[in-house]
Amino acid sequence: MSSTNRIDIALIEDGDMPACFKIVSETFGHDAPFVDIYFPNHDTSYGQVQGSSRLLAWKHASRDSVFLKAVTSVDGDRTSKDHIVGLAVWTHMKAIPPQKLEDAENVEEIWPDMNDRKFMTALWEDYVRPRSQAVRDSNGNGVYVLELLAVHPRYQRLGAGAALVSWGTRAADEAGVKAVVEGTPAGRRLYEKCGFSTEIEEMSFNIGEGFAGRRIPKLIFLVREPAL
Ligand SMILES: CC(C)(COP(=O)(O)OP(=O)(O)OC[C@H]1O[C@@H](n2cnc3c(N)ncnc32)[C@H](O)[C@@H]1OP(=O)(O)O)[C@@H](O)C(=O)NCCC(=O)NCCS
Repeated sequence: MSSTNRIDIALIEDGDMPACFKIVSETFGHDAPFVDIYFPNHDTSYGQVQGSSRLLAWKHASRDSVFLKAVTSVDGDRTSKDHIVGLAVWTHMKAIPPQKLEDAENVEEIWPDMNDRKFMTALWEDYVRPRSQAVRDSNGNGVYVLELLAVHPRYQRLGAGAALVSWGTRAADEAGVKAVVEGTPAGRRLYEKCGFSTEIEEMSFNIGEGFAGRRIPKLIFLVREPAL
């Protein structure tokens, strides 16, 4: 990318969601086991319609979640259109999230295969445990949770990730609360640069018997104290 590209952060509009979901799919590919099972068939047209409508439903349902896009425009080029290159979802979580997947999602529709559904259900319980504890420890003030972050591979290392993360850490500082994230190893350096430290080096997923051959997510739980 040319150095004339500038990154701006803006709110995602409903009409942006298909493009945003495509970024999620192309960024994570099949490298991130949690994303892969959470958004089934995300690289097919059916999976993209389903994934983008789930994000849209989430955006409409959660008043405490902010859906952000990183856009790039070429300075001085008035003909170029802003282009979405990344996205983030930050939630100021004040209540403990649903502990059961079936209370958070339409499980039969999203995971019609019973084994996929059982596997995702087992992952979910362990996935939400650290963030639930952080909410419990917050004495009712809540925590800012970075729920989703992706910058398209063609636009990485231009500062979009840092800008999307900093939006939430600033908001957390203003509210005087912690920020937390279940981070991928790929995101670790960025989070550390933004003031997060590792609280759990490798989140544990006790999925039990019967899922041999399934890929287990490798996630780090990172926490950032609010700036004084
Ligand atoms: C992690 C991710 C969001 C970073 O986005 P980005 O726009 O490239 O990040 P930035 O350009 O703002 O980078 C900020 C800093 O993070 C660190 N960083 C980012 N990507 C890095 C990489 N691949 N290797 C080492 N450090 C990296 C660097 O310190 C970088 O600063 P620098 O470029 O001045 O050295 C992006 O690589 C991504 O989407 N990865 C795949 C999806 C994913 O894992 N998302 C996180 C889920 S929790």
